[in-house]
Amino acid sequence: MSYQLPPVWTKLQQHAVFPEFDHDERARYNFLANLNRFVSTVIAPGNKIAYDKRVEPAFRAEQGRTFEDRHEVKDAMEADPMYQTWAALRRSTMEMRQQNGRAVVLRQAGELAQKAQTYLEKSDNLALNDAVSVPPYLRHVDNHLMPGSYHTEYFRGDVANAANYDSGLFVTSGGMLGSLTDGGGRAIASWVRTEYPSFKPKRILDIGCGLGHNTLPLAEAFPDADVVAIDTGVPMLRYGAARANALGISNVKFVQMNAESMADFADETFDWVQTTMFLHETGGKAIHRIFGEINRVLAPNGLNLHIEQPQYTPEMSYYEQFMRDWDAYYNAEPYWGHMHDLQPQDLMTEAGVSRENFMQVGVKAINDLDKKKSDGKVTEDYGRSPIWNVFGGWKK
Ligand SMILES: C[S@@+](CC[C@H](N)C(=O)[O-])C[C@H]1O[C@@H](n2cnc3c(N)ncnc32)[C@H](O)[C@@H]1O
Repeated sequence: MSYQLPPVWTKLQQHAVFPEFDHDERARYNFLANLNRFVSTVIAPGNKIAYDKRVEPAFRAEQGRTFEDRHEVKDAMEADPMYQTWAALRRSTMEMRQQNGRAVVLRQAGELAQKAQTYLEKSDNLALNDAVSVPPYLRHVDNHLMPGSYHTEYFRGDVANAANYDSGLFVTSGGMLGSLTDGGGRAIASWVRTEYPSFKPKRILDIGCGLGHNTLPLAEAFPDADVVAIDTGVPMLRYGAARANALGISNVKFVQMNAESMADFADETFDWVQTTMFLHETGGKAIHRIFGEINRVLAPNGLNLHIEQPQYTPEMSYYEQFMRDWDAYYNAEPYWGHMHDLQPQDLMTEAGVSRENFMQVGVKAINDLDKKKSDGKVTEDYGRSPIWNVFGGWKK
């Protein structure tokens, strides 16, 4: 069996506000990225073997029928030792990644805040607003086991949780996101430019921007556009604005705002509204308020796109739905299942995109190229060509 190792962690670009790692901390992250890859590529397939050979036949023998939804699959699989082993390993890997990252950033929290402040002073690209509160579906959850999630500030000016997110997503993704952890943004920017060459957005809104990993590629691809990036996590916005300055990207403004109520934006003022890996973290009612707001702020003929893991459509097997649902139960992503049960065409109708204009596509990642040329060849050192699942459409 061929097994491809993740790239080494030092391939991440150490931009000017990035945390410092010592030798052992780097080694730990490399170990965890490899463990994560091993668990997901070598151990995880054992679940399907257990399902086919043991769990489904036993259920059928007892009930006289097969499973009728993913919840029945879950109840049966959770009693199986193969699944128990894989799930426990996956959970432990995630906890180790979060706790290691946390230890790294907390020991240098003061220096990180100072570095961020130095770069924040280089431009006026951050607009914080104390009146914006963190919605309860974020406030009460340590999303994907990240202590304090996106919003916790340990002191005024703190960026520690954002620095943990920036340096550690590499582990969770097995190094698949590129040297600036911006694989999704680069893929969508390139796809939009190629598919719609005459589209010249003047204003782009990125909702739930985090620290702007996938926002900056939009700004770079459309340098004449003003990009507005909103989030409710202050440390993410602060670090993101400093990071953008450090990377020399000047057409993004980071704004503290809840996407459920974007009253500061006038109607129909954005040509493109983008979200990336955002929708699954919003609560059951909030997601509909957000789509209503997208409809309001998006200009006629504007573009609305969402990068998300695939929805649970009738074509997806109950087994696959169950495996994808792991995050909902064991990775502190409580809205994951609810969100993925929604039908994307219905959501897009709420955003003002008719069913005829709905689209769902796989967008290919752009790989970084290794700058060192061995044998005169330029080789890929990241990316490994994942396909990003995108749905959306043009507002008509
Ligand atoms: C998984 S992160 C994705 C970040 C970013 N889009 C990326 O691709 O790296 C989801 C982000 O959505 C933000 N978020 C969730 N609900 C929000 C809301 N109602 N309004 C604004 N931001 C929100 C969280 O604070 C978090 O930073």
